Amino acid sequence: MQNPFTPSFGIVPLYLAGREMILSDLRRALQNGPGDPSLCSIIVGPRGSGKTALLSCIADEAMRQGYIVADTTAVPGMLEDILQRALDASAEIVTRHSPKKVTGISVGQFLGIEWQESAPPKENWRSRMTTLLRELKKTDSGLLITVDEVRASLDEMIQLAAVYQLLIRDGFKCALVMAGLRVHCNQLLDDDSTSFLRRAKQYPLERISDTEIDRAFRKTIESSGKQIHAAALKSAVNASGGYPYMMQLVGFSIWEESGERKTIHEQDAEKGVHAALQDFQNGVLNSTYRELSSGDRTFLRALSDDVSENRVSDIAARMNKTAGYVSSYKLRALEAGVIEETPGKTLMFSIPFFREYLLAHED
Ligand SMILES: Nc1ncnc2c1ncn2[C@@H]1O[C@H](COP(=O)(O)OP(=O)(O)O)[C@@H](O)[C@H]1O
Ligand SMILES: [Mg+2]
Repeated sequence: MQNPFTPSFGIVPLYLAGREMILSDLRRALQNGPGDPSLCSIIVGPRGSGKTALLSCIADEAMRQGYIVADTTAVPGMLEDILQRALDASAEIVTRHSPKKVTGISVGQFLGIEWQESAPPKENWRSRMTTLLRELKKTDSGLLITVDEVRASLDEMIQLAAVYQLLIRDGFKCALVMAGLRVHCNQLLDDDSTSFLRRAKQYPLERISDTEIDRAFRKTIESSGKQIHAAALKSAVNASGGYPYMMQLVGFSIWEESGERKTIHEQDAEKGVHAALQDFQNGVLNSTYRELSSGDRTFLRALSDDVSENRVSDIAARMNKTAGYVSSYKLRALEAGVIEETPGKTLMFSIPFFREYLLAHED
């Protein structure tokens, strides 16, 4: 029996825990097309919360609905990448079976010719996107652009947002779904030239409820040929802390512990959870900790002292430093993805168990 859990970044799990609401919103938006508010969305969450996996599921849904998908990451060259991927995807659609009657010349061929003729491109990105969308429109198809790991510091990210707004204004069926760490999404939304993105629908990936994690464990295990005892399931759920990456680590280890047996027992769960915590510590906590300066660590320890009163002013008082000093460390920690700031300006850890880890390590 093959282990069905997927403790690797970017891999879509067998069962997605707790994302039904977001997926149904997006499913509806893709069906509705222009005008639906979720057609432009931002998925916000810490590392390991399942952003990349969710983008892939949204892309799959879009393809089922006959959209072509251009999936990219916010790195230099992303605009060209979007066009190239859209082109590849449209060629594929036609060779498979067209979603809705593509006649005569295929989207892929048409754009293929366009593409070759325009290399090096004489037209700007907007006009090439317009050509693409106009062709897609003839076949009643649309385009979904997904951008992972958004960064406001990338010029092309800003350009994409600006052009997207114009394409929407022209009435094209074009969806844009982005994902990133809270700090990067906020920077993007704060940029004056992308102010229209403030109207984008935001989906924060928060802690998943124990009920949902429980269900995903059970479905993953049972559909893959094993059973799990109630007590074992309970410890697996507790150890996951509502965090997708941890859930996969725990699931993977308890499955391995049960070997060839058909049932995962309490002892398997006990050993498996221990192994998963060890893996999490080696893979995530140690490396995150090593990347921090000693000033960062001091700041984060002051943050971990009190879990409720964690605004900059509280921490400054606790550290006996100025608010300006504390703010500069806050920015560094946000940038590193270690903490998040709530809309109420309270700071909290975004990586599970990191607080406990910090308290247990004295440099
Ligand atoms: N909703 C979910 N339920 C269960 N496991 C998930 C879910 N989303 C993602 N995962 C798993 O969690 C891990 C991290 O997912 P990933 O999408 O790479 O996170 P991110 O992009 O936010 O860092 C992967 O092992 C993936 O299989
Ligand atoms: Mg990711």
